[in-house]
Amino acid sequence: SLLVPSVKDLAKQPLSRIPERYLRTDVELQLTNIKCCSSLSKQVPIIDMSKLSSVDSHDSELQNLDIACKQWGFFQLMNHGVKASVIEDMKKGVEELFNLPKEEKNKLWQTPEDREGFGQQFVASQNQKLDWADMFLLVTFPQEARNSHLFPNIPLPFRDNLEAYCLEMRNLSIKIIEFMAEALNIEANEIRKLFEEKGRQAMRMNYYPPCPQPHKAMGINPHSDIGALTILLQVNEVEGLQIKKDGLWVPIAPMPNAFVINLGDVLEILSNGIYKSVEHRATVNSEKERISIATFHSAMLDGNIGPSPSLVTPQTPPLFKTIGLFELYERYLSQEVGGKSHLDFIRIQNE
Ligand code: SIN
Ligand code: FE2
Repeated sequence: SLLVPSVKDLAKQPLSRIPERYLRTDVELQLTNIKCCSSLSKQVPIIDMSKLSSVDSHDSELQNLDIACKQWGFFQLMNHGVKASVIEDMKKGVEELFNLPKEEKNKLWQTPEDREGFGQQFVASQNQKLDWADMFLLVTFPQEARNSHLFPNIPLPFRDNLEAYCLEMRNLSIKIIEFMAEALNIEANEIRKLFEEKGRQAMRMNYYPPCPQPHKAMGINPHSDIGALTILLQVNEVEGLQIKKDGLWVPIAPMPNAFVINLGDVLEILSNGIYKSVEHRATVNSEKERISIATFHSAMLDGNIGPSPSLVTPQTPPLFKTIGLFELYERYLSQEVGGKSHLDFIRIQNE
């Protein structure tokens, strides 16, 4: 990957204009700034995990989940059962992580050979526009995929808090994926093999500093997530995340004690297009820093992904070719993000 400077450091200087590399052109903004719609924001589905888990309310809440996944690809999850202390420790730890002194951060910075650590994702050329954000990326599961240069250098006690948080996220992701599989009528065994025995997890912590020209920059350019499921924690409850719904950019308002859940490309492929991985982006503002933590869940990269055999019928032929996950990820990670065109190479045109 190409090395990028710290946006947090940049934003510390008194700037009236942002550097050229972060300044999006009008063409880019016309493409991405379609229209922003706050009234739709109130309609973003809210799913209650405790209702899914209790016998009396299970069926009706499962139907709500199914509709949310088909029509929105995004929902807020309440009563999720994750220990409050684990979330609080994680929130505090992430703030401290981004406040580490420069020398400490440099030890954890990306290198040309290594995408993990502090830096930016999806930087494929020197000429492309950069996001107005710093991130910290790391693979957390399976254990053997952990980065041996990075993990041991994460300061304590944050490393332990992170460990507790990733385990909670893993258990939660498995429960949610199982409910989705039930709603889709996919064999439980198929899901177990992909996501439980051989689950992959990565985390991306995002720090968006205040931006002197917020309408000329982007926190994260529009994209869909590659994995199966993303669990997002909006750490300091500052708005910024928007999802694309019927051609409008809909803000996802931070909701206390909830996670934002979204489906990624792997679940769109597995569900043969019944569930959608929806494009989203993060905007920035001139006043407040914003922090979020995205935890990505997927299957091990040594396997293949394609439409679930239980969902392919003569009436519903496969919409995607089956492909190696490693290739799918490599293509996604080595390009500048933009829309969902990275899936075009596996789409099947049916008559
Ligand atoms: C993203 O990871 O797509 C952005 C999440 C966010 O900061 O809201
Ligand atoms: Fe994302």
